[in-house]
Amino acid sequence: MKVGVLGSGDVAKTLAGGFIKHGHQVKLGTRSPAKLVQWASTDRSVALGTFAEAAQFGELVVVAVKGTAAREALELAGKSNVAGKTIVDATNPIADAPPVNGVLKFFTNLDESLMERLQNAFPEAHFVKAFSSVGNACMVNPQFQGGKPTMFICGNSESAKAAVRGVLDQFGWETADMGKAEAARAIEPLCMLWCIPGFLRNDWVHAFKLLA
Ligand SMILES: NC(=O)c1ccc[n+]([C@@H]2O[C@H](COP(=O)([O-])OP(=O)(O)OC[C@H]3O[C@@H](n4cnc5c(N)ncnc54)[C@H](OP(=O)(O)O)[C@@H]3O)[C@@H](O)[C@H]2O)c1
Repeated sequence: MKVGVLGSGDVAKTLAGGFIKHGHQVKLGTRSPAKLVQWASTDRSVALGTFAEAAQFGELVVVAVKGTAAREALELAGKSNVAGKTIVDATNPIADAPPVNGVLKFFTNLDESLMERLQNAFPEAHFVKAFSSVGNACMVNPQFQGGKPTMFICGNSESAKAAVRGVLDQFGWETADMGKAEAARAIEPLCMLWCIPGFLRNDWVHAFKLLA
């Protein structure tokens, strides 16, 4: 599969590496491709481009940019380049304010998630929330004593969610489908919970598992 990854931070680089590991072709998009030339050249076979070039390249597109800039990055990627495509939304709506006792601040509220805002702004794209509730170090084939962790996903398109479930299978995750886009109101705050042990005890290696 051809995958366009929007972003140049740890999440974008980690997921790009995961897609390469599993045999996909990747173009990573950023406003400044030059800053990643050395990283991309070290045996990763990741192509670099602008947000628009990466989005155009991808049959599947990953959004892995700062939450406050997600809409702007997608505007730069271009509406026509994301229309009709599955968009893996790894972003979180983290506000530009420090955590309080280890609890992050969000710029959204419990009645409106970032993914819903993006879905409304780009109605022809098929957003699927995924990879937002775990740190980048544990995103690709994580090994936990407790077995496979669970990735909570949601989105309005069943076929897009099936495509993302396929990616999660490859990346070593169980998938828990929480339904339509509104479920991102519950999934995005899992990031706050996931980060608390990190901020309080410097423990950043864990993931959620749904038991039944
Ligand atoms: N860090 C984690 O472990 C983790 C885990 C789960 C989810 N997340 C979420 O994943 C996303 C990426 O996190 P990250 O830590 O890898 O990176 P980040 O530092 O949150 O974001 C860096 C990216 O944001 C883009 N960006 C910043 N301002 C922009 C603007 N004004 N216009 C367009 N693009 C802009 C940058 O673009 P350029 O490339 O052009 O500089 C860069 O690609 C975030 O939403 C985060 O909450 C992070």
